[in-house]
Amino acid sequence: MYLIKRKEVLNPSVVLMEIEAPYIAKKVQPGQFVIYRVDEQGERVPLTVNDCDREAGTITLIFQLVGRSTLKLAALNEGDSILDVVGPLGVPTEIPEGAKRICVIGGGVGCAIAYPQAKKYFAEGLEVDVIAGFRSKDIVILEDAFKAHSTRLTVCTDDGSYGRKGFVTDALREQIEAGAKYDCVIAIGPVPMMKFVSKVTEPYGIKTIVSLNPIMIDGTGMCGGCRVTVGGKTRYACVEGPDFDGHEVDYDELMRRSGVFREREADCRMMTLAEQKRGDA
Ligand SMILES: Cc1cc2nc3c(=O)[nH]c(=O)nc-3n(C[C@H](O)[C@H](O)[C@H](O)COP(=O)(O)OP(=O)(O)OC[C@H]3O[C@@H](n4cnc5c(N)ncnc54)[C@H](O)[C@@H]3O)c2cc1C
Ligand code: FES
Repeated sequence: MYLIKRKEVLNPSVVLMEIEAPYIAKKVQPGQFVIYRVDEQGERVPLTVNDCDREAGTITLIFQLVGRSTLKLAALNEGDSILDVVGPLGVPTEIPEGAKRICVIGGGVGCAIAYPQAKKYFAEGLEVDVIAGFRSKDIVILEDAFKAHSTRLTVCTDDGSYGRKGFVTDALREQIEAGAKYDCVIAIGPVPMMKFVSKVTEPYGIKTIVSLNPIMIDGTGMCGGCRVTVGGKTRYACVEGPDFDGHEVDYDELMRRSGVFREREADCRMMTLAEQKRGDA
């Protein structure tokens, strides 16, 4: 069992949990993830490790409440335990050797997934520009954390209620056109965001890393659930990713495959909300 040491609600649909997992905390690197199950009936859910405390033996997960499994996790509190947490899984993020200036871009809860990379490369002395995008002011997360671990932070909101009005792609294009020479861009967020960031960087020949989130089941390369097409080849995101070259990903296929269970997922979400209202979940 894995003890929940701390829980914090970051915005109405995003929760942070610090979980006691000493083995994972000792080994995990930025870009890696875990797969958890709340209980015996729970499905296996991948979540990126947002941070870790190697001394205290804890890992931090930040997740959006989207369906049955994340609602069930969010219903737990400090002092509760979850059945299992497997990891660290996946390949740590790798940027080109000798990179001096990078841009880390997060969209929504993708900011939580992009944060460990900003933190690591800033600590290593690289110039790290962060562009964090949200729909509106009320859902902005991790602003202070990014401020502390970046050279320059631009917060964007789609509706202009906070920071720069517009999409992360607008801010990125502006910075490149103003002369920012990036050796690498790391973009993590909704699939369309990663697709369009990659389209912005492609004409400039800027290496672009995206973190893909296909449906994962076993997380060990056995089931094929997480297969994606990159550079015309089938790749398994759980063992060969989740990071891939943003200019080579077949985003349209990824979006099609991610939506396969949408109706079932919507039913399960409604069922879970009803159970939680009755108090029997
Ligand atoms: C490597 C990786 C890292 C991730 N890291 C984070 C993170 O740090 N924070 C975060 O909020 N989310 C993260 N996700 C997405 C997260 O796994 C899904 O939001 C979660 O599985 C939803 O489960 P659910 O039962 O609550 O929702 P459901 O209603 O079951 O699904 C909602 C949507 O979530 C996605 N999803 C569902 N099941 C899976 C699955 N087994 N594997 C992958 N995606 C699934 C699908 O797009 C689906 O349409 C990550 C996904 C991957 C693959
Ligand atoms: S999740 Fe099964 S092969 Fe990747």
